[in-house]
Amino acid sequence: MNLLIDDKTKQVLKNANSLVFFTGAGISAESGIPTFRGMDGIWNKLKPEELANFNAFLKNPKLVWEWYQHRKEIIHKCQPNSAHKIIADVQNNFEKVSVVTQNIDNLHRRAGSKKVYELHGNIERNYCIDCKKEYGDNVPLKDGLPKCDCGGLVRPDVVWFGEYLPQDVYTSAEKAAEESDVLFIVGTTGIVYPAASIIYIAKNNGAYLIEVNIEETEVSKSVNKSFFGKAGEVLPQIFNEI
Ligand code: OAD
Repeated sequence: MNLLIDDKTKQVLKNANSLVFFTGAGISAESGIPTFRGMDGIWNKLKPEELANFNAFLKNPKLVWEWYQHRKEIIHKCQPNSAHKIIADVQNNFEKVSVVTQNIDNLHRRAGSKKVYELHGNIERNYCIDCKKEYGDNVPLKDGLPKCDCGGLVRPDVVWFGEYLPQDVYTSAEKAAEESDVLFIVGTTGIVYPAASIIYIAKNNGAYLIEVNIEETEVSKSVNKSFFGKAGEVLPQIFNEI
């Protein structure tokens, strides 16, 4: 794929002091992790309200827990792709670069990114719903159920439907977006709020918006530049050229 990067975009990127990468499920598609919407999307096969919410967990903790264990096993077999890697490279070589992700798959960290604001949590972490004790990946099971020492149920540290985003993480992401000169919007439909507000916070504060997606989205009309192609191909080309 040969990408045409216009002079304006090159210039803006060369002069930028502060970059934010706002990412969604599409950035991990080339690693083999299914997206939520679109042809093979998870939500075409399962109803989110049946699995990804607190009441579903209370009603059938074993089912919800096993679904997350299954997703985690898939994720563990996947590797970060060239999009995650180039972002980590850029982050490690320049000062003000943040990653704000809606993904829970931990692939940005596995690629070497250090500062990652995970708006929807991280599937590798868990916590007790009663005493809030935090667990990593090793959760004790009693009769097949994830149980804390206090007897409470342990749940994945991910944001479910109807829940608030982690406030401190959102505030940091919001600040990074406000201060950004360029915001990359990579592999997201940009329709799930409040996460998607990051896009408009950056825009209202004068950032130059660059979208990377395989197809047009709701966001396309609001950005300065869209690159249509796979994130793992487009992002390395952009950064090779500037
Ligand atoms: P979606 O599944 O809504 O969108 C994935 C986007 O990635 C689509 O716009 C695709 O066109 C694009 N895409 C697919 N493959 C790509 C590739 N190789 N390169 C670039 N783009 C590609 O996922 P999100 O926008 O992340 O929330 O969804 C947002 C939230 O909705 C998720 O975090 C999740 C879900 O409900 C929670 O679970 C709270």
